[in-house]
Amino acid sequence: MPKPSIIRTVTSLRQAIGRYRKAGDTIALIPTMGALHAGHLALVRLARHKAKRVVVSIFVNPAQFAPHEDFASYPRTLSADLAALSELKIDLIWAPSVREMYPDGFVTRIEPEGPAKAGLEDAFRPHFFGGVATVVAKLLQQVTPHFAIFGEKDFQQLKVVTTMARDLDMPVTIVGAPTVREKDGLAMSSRNAYLSASERAVAPTLHQVLKECASRIKDGLPIGAALADGRARIERAGFTVDYLEARNARTLTPIAALTDGPVRLLVAAKLGRTRLIDNIKV
Ligand code: PAJ
Repeated sequence: MPKPSIIRTVTSLRQAIGRYRKAGDTIALIPTMGALHAGHLALVRLARHKAKRVVVSIFVNPAQFAPHEDFASYPRTLSADLAALSELKIDLIWAPSVREMYPDGFVTRIEPEGPAKAGLEDAFRPHFFGGVATVVAKLLQQVTPHFAIFGEKDFQQLKVVTTMARDLDMPVTIVGAPTVREKDGLAMSSRNAYLSASERAVAPTLHQVLKECASRIKDGLPIGAALADGRARIERAGFTVDYLEARNARTLTPIAALTDGPVRLLVAAKLGRTRLIDNIKV
């Protein structure tokens, strides 16, 4: 299996992309922060069906972490990531340094509104979507993909990126991919590595509660009542809940009844020092 080449400068990236473009090849990009797991790899497999050339970016983006967050300790597992990717027949790995991505004098920031101000992740991580939008806009400019693949696991992020690409006339199709889960339902996440054994045992509660809320809402229980019970169950399991909400799946605006749908349930909660998020459709 030929190893994908790792590119670390914008100049050499441009050369490689220029070759694909000249040959008329379609390109798909999967932006990641590395510490790859089966969820990321599912996006890569989807990309293979969409385009001739597959580019995976690995960049732990300081712009989307607040000073008190886990930028320094975020898992970095480059050699394992490379091994996983070389099994999957991808074309190149774009792994710039922080300096290459944000050289001295870098001052531009994209400030998304709309779904980025829905009162979900943004209420707890106010700097987050500005950092995500800025780096994703740069990645799209650098790689010029026809398709860029994002996971529904980060549902609000998927909306923010889709809206940005549309608003800024970016010539790319944003593709959403379903959440990949562990056997017990826990959504795969690079941050699951932070969980202690006892926290890991409790973590699937989040998904169980989402499923239970969804089925009670479908059975006619008022959304407010279903979510209040769900929240209490998550807290009893030892989490601190940031939010558990029902939103319109298209706009992320709050909804009170199933008929305001399509409905998406979204949750974020802390277990010890680990913050987990998840969401499902009703
Ligand atoms: P990261 O958390 O590494 O995730 C990279 C991509 O993988 C995102 O699109 C995310 O939604 C998707 N993903 C993560 N876990 C998944 C799962 N269990 N199932 C399906 N997809 C999953 O999200 C980011 O990085 C960053 O914010 C980024 C977009 C790269 C910008 O820095």
